[in-house]
Amino acid sequence: MTSSDVWDAATAGRYDEEAAHMFAPEVLDPAVDLLARLAGDGPALEFAIGTGRVAVPLADRGVRVSGIELSAPMADQLRGKRDDVPVVVGDMATSAVPGEFSLVYVVWNSIGNLRTQAEQVACFRNAARHLGQGGRFVVELWVPGIRRLPPGQAAVPFHVGRRHVGFDTYDLVTQQGTSHHYVRQGDDGSVRYSASNFRYIWPAECDLMAQLAGLEFERRTADWSGEPFTGDSESHVSIWRKPSGPERGGGSVR
Ligand SMILES: C[S@@+](CC[C@H](N)C(=O)[O-])C[C@H]1O[C@@H](n2cnc3c(N)ncnc32)[C@H](O)[C@@H]1O
Repeated sequence: MTSSDVWDAATAGRYDEEAAHMFAPEVLDPAVDLLARLAGDGPALEFAIGTGRVAVPLADRGVRVSGIELSAPMADQLRGKRDDVPVVVGDMATSAVPGEFSLVYVVWNSIGNLRTQAEQVACFRNAARHLGQGGRFVVELWVPGIRRLPPGQAAVPFHVGRRHVGFDTYDLVTQQGTSHHYVRQGDDGSVRYSASNFRYIWPAECDLMAQLAGLEFERRTADWSGEPFTGDSESHVSIWRKPSGPERGGGSVR
């Protein structure tokens, strides 16, 4: 039983249009470039693959990509585009995909959709389980915006535009949060509200989860292009590696 919200058919149907800015070449190309380099000649596995925003262009580069996706309607959207990107409908914390991968990755903050620490640790372990020796796990994740949350303020806006207003609310005790979206529907003034729930994780907590999964820290940058990660970075791309040879440090990777 997963703690994640399950995305419905209506949400899946409008995903590509509403996420159009994330399909822009300047956003997507650096991610696909790095992931293709890390996969090398081996296969890649995307956790929370969605409609294939990243997987499809990666497959276009000749990488064999598989996916795990919780929402059947999201997986159906991907299957409508491609039949050479196999998807298991299931939970990225627990589901298994046949094969051994040189790369497992989860992008666009999707690991936060797992809303308990135990499931997030299980997700790291599941990544390690699917990797061959020397394989890498890549996570793209935002840094929780709570530096912008002074005492007494309940919400942090992340986008304020003509068509869309979005803000996050946080529970600082449980590390739970909710993203609230208000999207204008047309010119009649009507607005559609939607919300998605997450558990926020600091980079250091990610490193500990990786360590528990038997993965070694390799690199953290602020973005896909390799900009240095600093105290002001709002997101990170982090890479951990499954050790080659006899297991060192960390816990079991079974
Ligand atoms: C922001 S979308 C990202 C989709 C795609 N990776 C992309 O970059 O466009 C988040 C995705 O995570 C999926 N998801 C949420 N919880 C999940 C879970 N526990 N296991 C697998 N997928 C999950 C959602 O159904 C959704 O497709």
